[in-house]
Amino acid sequence: MTIPIKNPDEQNKMRIAGRLAADALDMIEEFVQPGISTAELDRICHDFITNEQGAIPAPLNYRGFPKSICTSINHVVCHGIPGDRVLKTGDSLNIDITVIKDGFHGDTSRMFFAGKPSVIAKRLSDVAYESMWLGIEQLCHGKYLGDVGHAIQSYAEKNRFSVVREFCGHGIGRYFHEDPQVLHYGKAGTGIELKSGMTLTIEPMINSGKSDIKILPDGWTVVTKDHGLSAQWEHTVLITDDGYEVLTLGKNHR
Ligand code: MF3
Ligand code: CO
Ligand code: CO
Repeated sequence: MTIPIKNPDEQNKMRIAGRLAADALDMIEEFVQPGISTAELDRICHDFITNEQGAIPAPLNYRGFPKSICTSINHVVCHGIPGDRVLKTGDSLNIDITVIKDGFHGDTSRMFFAGKPSVIAKRLSDVAYESMWLGIEQLCHGKYLGDVGHAIQSYAEKNRFSVVREFCGHGIGRYFHEDPQVLHYGKAGTGIELKSGMTLTIEPMINSGKSDIKILPDGWTVVTKDHGLSAQWEHTVLITDDGYEVLTLGKNHR
């Protein structure tokens, strides 16, 4: 396994791609309301990314994925395909946006709610968010990927939620998914040693019930087996000598 180390010029390109992905999420926020379909959200994002940003929506045609963003509602864990489904009051929705600019990828996702969420949906989203940050805060030259997984898993499970095992974070750069795999569970001090110049995503998928998932016959949509709610947040992050730099910060989100 070779993990690409980005030189300063490549790091700058990653900063730009990350900024654009975060800007697209900032842009779409006001459109997430009861009554809009996920296909409309996809079209608005596609047009913004291609026309306003002069960037490429990475999911479109990626391994056959048919749309430009992923929209994952309620019990959908990830990789939901935008379509005719219309948002209802109380739905929770993850929007996952990846753009390619100047040959480099920026990948980020957030949770949104159509109207007012249930108490459990809000709490699950908050725990997923906090677990992502606890994972990110582990990142530093010389630390281990197991430190990240351990921080995420212990926080999620302390809150009596479960961590999805089948999907993970990843290296990112010239390719959408590079080495290493970033597991959202594990044992502190184990696994690959982090080096400054690596760029990774941290994107824990946290379920309200059991961690088990299945993939729908469309070959993409990942759902919880028990149909419990699932939540996910994602940032693209650069490892530095003394910590990390988050490349996909939003205007109103850390
Ligand atoms: N953006 C997702 C990730 O965080 C990957 C989506 S692959 C797609 O890794 F094909 F579904 F877009
Ligand atoms: Co990702
Ligand atoms: Co993503």
